[in-house]
Amino acid sequence: MEVKQIAIIGAGVSGLGAIKSCLEEGLEPTCFEKSNGIGGLWRYKETPENGRPGIYKSLTCNTSKEMTAFSDYPIPDHYPNYMHHSKMMEYLRMYARHFGLMKHIQFQVRKKKLLP
Ligand SMILES: Cc1cc2nc3c(=O)[nH]c(=O)nc-3n(C[C@H](O)[C@H](O)[C@H](O)COP(=O)(O)OP(=O)(O)OC[C@H]3O[C@@H](n4cnc5c(N)ncnc54)[C@H](O)[C@@H]3O)c2cc1C
Ligand SMILES: *[C@@H]1O[C@H](CO)[C@@H](O)[C@H](O)[C@H]1NC(C)=O
Repeated sequence: MEVKQIAIIGAGVSGLGAIKSCLEEGLEPTCFEKSNGIGGLWRYKETPENGRPGIYKSLTCNTSKEMTAFSDYPIPDHYPNYMHHSKMMEYLRMYARHFGLMKHIQFQVRKKKLLP
């Protein structure tokens, strides 16, 4: 049977979870990310970028670890319950590494249309 190819737009929390789920189902996902890194909102930048939502330097999650974590990949015990955004970003990097997601992401590709 032909393997279905799936396009995923954006490598934020939603996109990373989508890539992982596609792989689990035996699909062939390609994630297109317009920036040069994963994490979306959680990829903190010192200077705000036009058209991109940003977070401030001291931002801490307002959701507990239990509520924030992907259900199949717990946040490490030694992380604080309400994490600083840098810890959230570390967690997302670990998640991507653990499930081998990076090779399915093409960076600096901005998708304009979902359909041809
Ligand atoms: C200030 C603030 C604080 C928050 N705090 C929390 C919290 O503590 N806990 C919590 O659970 N949630 C929190 N949230 C909610 C947050 O939005 C989610 O946690 C999560 O980051 C959403 O992920 P996402 O992948 O849907 O979107 P995003 O993180 O926005 O990722 C979208 C990605 O898609 C890419 N992209 C967009 N358009 C295109 C395109 N056309 N082509 C290619 N790539 C594209 C972007 O570059 C980005 O990487 C907060 C939100 C804000 C604004
Ligand atoms: C956390 O903050 C975000 C951004 O301000 C907001 O959208 C969300 O509702 C907040 N969540 C909780 C549980 O307070």
